[in-house]
Amino acid sequence: MELLERYGPWAVIAGASEGTGRAFARKLAEHGLPSVLVARREAPLAALREEILGKTGLACVIAPVDLSAPDACDKIAEAVGAREVGLFISNAGADTNGASFLDRDIAAWEALVNLNVTTMLRCCHHFGAPMRVRGKGGLLLVNSGASYGGIRGLAAYTASKAFMLNFAEALWGELRPAGVDVLTLVLGQTDTPAYRKLLAEKHLPLPTDWATPEDVAKVGLARLPFGPIHNWGCADDEARFSPSSAAARRQRVLLIPGM
Ligand SMILES: NC(=O)c1ccc[n+]([C@@H]2O[C@H](COP(=O)([O-])OP(=O)(O)OC[C@H]3O[C@@H](n4cnc5c(N)ncnc54)[C@H](OP(=O)(O)O)[C@@H]3O)[C@@H](O)[C@H]2O)c1
Repeated sequence: MELLERYGPWAVIAGASEGTGRAFARKLAEHGLPSVLVARREAPLAALREEILGKTGLACVIAPVDLSAPDACDKIAEAVGAREVGLFISNAGADTNGASFLDRDIAAWEALVNLNVTTMLRCCHHFGAPMRVRGKGGLLLVNSGASYGGIRGLAAYTASKAFMLNFAEALWGELRPAGVDVLTLVLGQTDTPAYRKLLAEKHLPLPTDWATPEDVAKVGLARLPFGPIHNWGCADDEARFSPSSAAARRQRVLLIPGM
């Protein structure tokens, strides 16, 4: 099925002002899907809206919202209004703290959990319910190899991404009979402004083999019908981030009887 037919008429992208989120918006517009573009900074969202309008004639909507605020999902829903959303992409979610757990105020970690867990969960509930009624749609949750186990200096981040991994697997199992696609896209190192900034702060060299945002958008949308997991750079039956391959984990979900 074409992207527009399967995931249209509107997409919502949480974290769309740069990097992979912006690449998703551009790729979707190429396929005729306008997006509601969500991020904190209004200026890059407005620039992206103008760029997409100029190239495709599609009028995106911008929603300057802090996704770590408790009312973020309500604000997104307000911006979406009566538009029919066939695709929700949870993209924002990097840990920009670069610190051990006790070396930051708890508020920083609570904000990260709000971003990666609460707002993601609420938006999947809000946008997933009408998709189930319509019998089509997609929920694409951008994840990290860090989801497969705890890493020092990334405690809250790895835990929040593990939440996303397990949530996506279970939700995929629940929604596939209804025709709604769920995928968590497990990324490795990717060339985004946020990651470049973190590397510069840590005086680390730029990777030579990192993914481009354009490839992430292309592969993510192509793999969306084949959830619940795509491990970046891996074949479906190949393990990389953990001893379990994506295919083995899919089988695991299908073999355990649901509640
Ligand atoms: N880059 C990598 O190497 C890498 C590796 C593995 C996984 N990932 C995953 O890929 C995704 C994208 O990562 P990224 O490197 O591009 O960094 P990111 O900070 O997660 O994403 C950047 C985008 O999210 C928006 N954003 C961040 N915090 C926000 C907030 N509180 N409220 C609203 N919007 C927010 C930013 O816009 P504003 O600043 O305008 O708000 C920007 O548009 C994340 O889920 C990350 O975990 C990335």
